[in-house]
Amino acid sequence: MELELWLLWALLAVSLLYYLTNTTLRLSGTGRLPPGPRPLPILGNLLDLRGDLHHTLTRLARVHGPIMRLKLGLTTAVVVSSRDAAREAFTRHDRRLAARAVPDATRALRFCERSIIWLPSSDPLWKTLRGIIATHIFSPRSLAVVRGIRERKVRDLVDYFRGRAGQEVDVRHAVFSGVLNLVSNAFCSVDVVDVGAESAKGLREIVEYLIELISKPNVSDLFPFLRLLDLQGWRRWTAGHLGKIFRILDDIIDHRLAETSSSKDKQSDFLDVLLELMSTGKIGRDNLTTILFDVFTAGSDTIAITVEWAMGELLRNPRIMAKVRAEIGDTLGGKEIIEEPDAASLPYLQAVVKEAMRLHPVGPIMLPHKAVDDGIEIGGYAVPKGCTVIFNAWAIMRDPVTWERPDEFVPERFLDRAAEVDFRGKEFEFIPFGSGRRLCPGIPMAERVVPHILASLLHAFEWRLPDGVPAEQLDVSEKFTTANVMAVPLKAVPIVII
Ligand code: HEM
Repeated sequence: MELELWLLWALLAVSLLYYLTNTTLRLSGTGRLPPGPRPLPILGNLLDLRGDLHHTLTRLARVHGPIMRLKLGLTTAVVVSSRDAAREAFTRHDRRLAARAVPDATRALRFCERSIIWLPSSDPLWKTLRGIIATHIFSPRSLAVVRGIRERKVRDLVDYFRGRAGQEVDVRHAVFSGVLNLVSNAFCSVDVVDVGAESAKGLREIVEYLIELISKPNVSDLFPFLRLLDLQGWRRWTAGHLGKIFRILDDIIDHRLAETSSSKDKQSDFLDVLLELMSTGKIGRDNLTTILFDVFTAGSDTIAITVEWAMGELLRNPRIMAKVRAEIGDTLGGKEIIEEPDAASLPYLQAVVKEAMRLHPVGPIMLPHKAVDDGIEIGGYAVPKGCTVIFNAWAIMRDPVTWERPDEFVPERFLDRAAEVDFRGKEFEFIPFGSGRRLCPGIPMAERVVPHILASLLHAFEWRLPDGVPAEQLDVSEKFTTANVMAVPLKAVPIVII
């Protein structure tokens, strides 16, 4: 039935599509458009995009250049794949490229009109929410308040592995659960995975499913004039799942409101801070729910996947593993428990984290930006107003023009440039968190938590590959799902040393 409807609409749409396709090109301004693969009628370049998206875009950019145009159905995308083009985009046109190409599924329950991730940067609500996050959540002072909570959750994770000493464990699975609990505890003092209310247990599955739904190819995004019909039903599905998750978050908030009014406790987590802002009218109740949702979705698997990549590369490179463990042993040998500032004091460990993010960025093409003005030019090519702009961070961070031996894991490359190359995307050859005004606001949390988890796992255990798999045979190939994950999930055996 769904297929018949599809065909009917496809046929009805053909003539209109031809007309609109030509019109889009005619309207795209006077500048020279970037080169790109020849598009097919209607489908555009969709058939060119098979395989892992960041790899495919990198291959195409080698042929068509670092500023490349693609037709995705009726929509146009410009792909930026070199440091110099990224520098030009972020320094000369940041504001005009800081809107989002919004997937139709996020229009469910008008979610995209409330979410930091999807609002255009020109929207006053986006500015308010980003301001609140920067000042009240991820400022050094606010992060210091909940440091104890984060450290306790990392200890729980170490205990989990201790309980499985000598056994094969799925590293991402365990770290993901640990980080979800870390984020949920920092925000609202609730464990969402093992303990906690029955309703909260489903949170992880729903979050995973929602991210998948939002990232799936959707005919409504490729042919916007069909949007109203929601032919594949993604918007309806997303509405159902978002509704469920908002109810879970609302329960948590209601519960806290009831507790606060009875106990008048001091501020202890981010939810208290946000409730305080709500009581003074700075944000509304629906903003509160959306902020919680945004940080759960954006903050948990990004950290877990990064830790998995770092562990994977260390297990594959015993020399580097030995070097980083020696640094930890020499500096912190006498300590039983590692704290966040301990991890921050280890330059080689920090270089390992950066190198893992360079080689395997979790968000290899970041999130889709959108051009909001006419007259944008990058590398002499026009970027038409309204088009999607994709930054291929993966291609930029493996570009042989800027990186020596770009496909190898060499943390030493960051040692000499530690101060200069940080996570803020000012050096445009290293942009795992993006750059400019849409730069990831979670950096202050990620740069504390990722090295801390890694240092704690390396300090407490010696790690082996299962069944005597030789290090060089460990498969570190990538798969692009909703993020850039290890195609073969990392299995490793923790051996207790302290
Ligand atoms: C290793 C960990 C992380 C990585 C690699 C990462 C990476 C990114 C990237 C690439 C973007 C998109 C930038 C762009 O489109 O220009 C982004 C956006 C975002 N990240 Fe992160 N992130 C991480 C952790 C976190 C954490 C811990 C949080 C919050 C708890 C967070 C919250 C967000 C939000 C809310 C956005 C959307 C910002 C906006 O559109 O204005 N991220 N992140």
